[in-house]
Amino acid sequence: MATSGPPDFGKTNIILKNGYKIPAVGIGTYRVRNYEDMYMLVDGALAAGYRLFDTASVYNNEHWLGAALRTLLPKYELDRRDIFITTKLGPSDHGKDAALKAFTKSLNNLNLGYIDMYLIHFPGASKVDSKSPKNAELRAESWKALEELYSEGKLNAIGVSNYTVKHLEEIISNHSNVPVVNQVEWHPFYYQMDLLDFCRKNSIVMQAYCSFGGTSNGDSSLLEHPLVNCIANNHSISAAQVLLLWALQQGIMVIPKSTKSEHIHQNIQLQDRLSSNEIELLFDLGLQPKIAWDPTSIK
Ligand SMILES: NC(=O)c1ccc[n+]([C@@H]2O[C@H](COP(=O)([O-])OP(=O)(O)OC[C@H]3O[C@@H](n4cnc5c(N)ncnc54)[C@H](OP(=O)(O)O)[C@@H]3O)[C@@H](O)[C@H]2O)c1
Repeated sequence: MATSGPPDFGKTNIILKNGYKIPAVGIGTYRVRNYEDMYMLVDGALAAGYRLFDTASVYNNEHWLGAALRTLLPKYELDRRDIFITTKLGPSDHGKDAALKAFTKSLNNLNLGYIDMYLIHFPGASKVDSKSPKNAELRAESWKALEELYSEGKLNAIGVSNYTVKHLEEIISNHSNVPVVNQVEWHPFYYQMDLLDFCRKNSIVMQAYCSFGGTSNGDSSLLEHPLVNCIANNHSISAAQVLLLWALQQGIMVIPKSTKSEHIHQNIQLQDRLSSNEIELLFDLGLQPKIAWDPTSIK
């Protein structure tokens, strides 16, 4: 492991298009389903140096995240301004009024004073056929709600998640605020270079989810892949760290989820760098079907 040289990704902030700072590495909370697990996650994460926490209204755990942070921030002599909270507008809350209401609900659930970044979780609306133009109408209204909250100073950053190039182009053509972040599935078994190129050109920072492939669904084939492990051995780091570095070295932020102390610590120890050849070899592992929900058919 390198002891000097490039800066530690775990301590790196990225400046978003609007000037707001966001940690390059955060921790995810999907499937954290009780207060005890959330407490362990937050305690381990703050101790290890994480400052970004990613949740969503559909995870049904915003209240536990907020409660754990309120209890634990003083233990680490941190205050609210030291951390970055992302939450998301769920697909059942698309539309202007529903989005404004959902934002207030998330704000109350978290009970941390403010939310740093609010993302539209998915371009499609619940109970609307994926082919229906109603999706586009509703998500445009949702974006107007986010723009209003942003212009009123109630949010520091607004963005999207699971948006394709088509969905992003729509926002850029019809609205004055461009999303600062697009959170998408991104790992060597699933990536979209056209989306990355588009985001780079438009100063939209990508944030990867499911960095370990299907691990959260019980499929560890990416973490166990011989090439990933060969690269890990070359650097004396773990397979998980290889996958996180692979995304970070492309300028893509990461939010790995873990409730295990050892994993939490490991996932933010990111001082090493893969060679460009190793990065390319990982790109060539071969694409597989997407693990999480797929937005490509959403009109
Ligand atoms: N916007 C969206 O639509 C969307 C979709 C999915 C996820 N997300 C967000 O992205 C976050 C990350 O995605 P994810 O939770 O689906 O998947 P992930 O972070 O790729 O994988 C999590 C899984 O990997 C295991 N793990 C973590 N660190 C490890 C390590 N160092 N070595 C071996 N195994 C390790 C965890 O188990 P242990 O807990 O046992 O360590 C857990 O089973 C979510 O929590 C959520 O906040 C967003």
